[in-house]
Amino acid sequence: MTHIEKDVEEVLLSEKELSDILDRIAADIVRDYKDSPRKLLILSILKGSLIFTSDLMRRIPLPLELDFMKVSSYGSGTVSSGGPLKISLDLKRDDIADLDILIVEDIIDSGNTLSKLKKHLAERGAHSVKICTLLDKPSRREVELSADYCGAEIPDKFVIGYGLDYDEKYRNLPYVGVLSPKVYS
Ligand code: PRP
Repeated sequence: MTHIEKDVEEVLLSEKELSDILDRIAADIVRDYKDSPRKLLILSILKGSLIFTSDLMRRIPLPLELDFMKVSSYGSGTVSSGGPLKISLDLKRDDIADLDILIVEDIIDSGNTLSKLKKHLAERGAHSVKICTLLDKPSRREVELSADYCGAEIPDKFVIGYGLDYDEKYRNLPYVGVLSPKVYS
């Protein structure tokens, strides 16, 4: 087996840059939720947000709970579409009305997945639903959606690492990189 770093064309966010982003976002979250009387639920969207969630929540010294969902909004193809929200791992709780839900995502691309998920959670009665994303590709947006907390806006390049995959690989890179086109062309 060869080292996965050989497939990285460029480092987009180094470990130090990621650490600074995490400090900034966590401080904003603490500022905004510290006086809330409700339960704060960190809702991590699998699989890509696993590492981001893990690093972020350890910087938030507030009482919080952690849950996971796995969702997608695929149509017939492999990219997110305007089709229905597919929930392959659901949130099973009966106290949703008591929750401030903070969705934690690795990336917003078209925005289809999160706009539908946000609506879904609001319809289930969550007291509040906010979005925290590590990466945002605003140039790819198909629906109106903005994150409440965003690590970095990035260009429309194929990014991998720090949880993000290509063909389920590269999630274990400790930084965010651009995948070399030779891998997929
Ligand atoms: C990615 C990402 C978001 C979604 C964003 O998940 O984590 O959930 O796609 O795309 P959109 O804004 O165009 O809807 P993916 O389906 O790749 O799953 P993964 O996190 O398990 O890799």
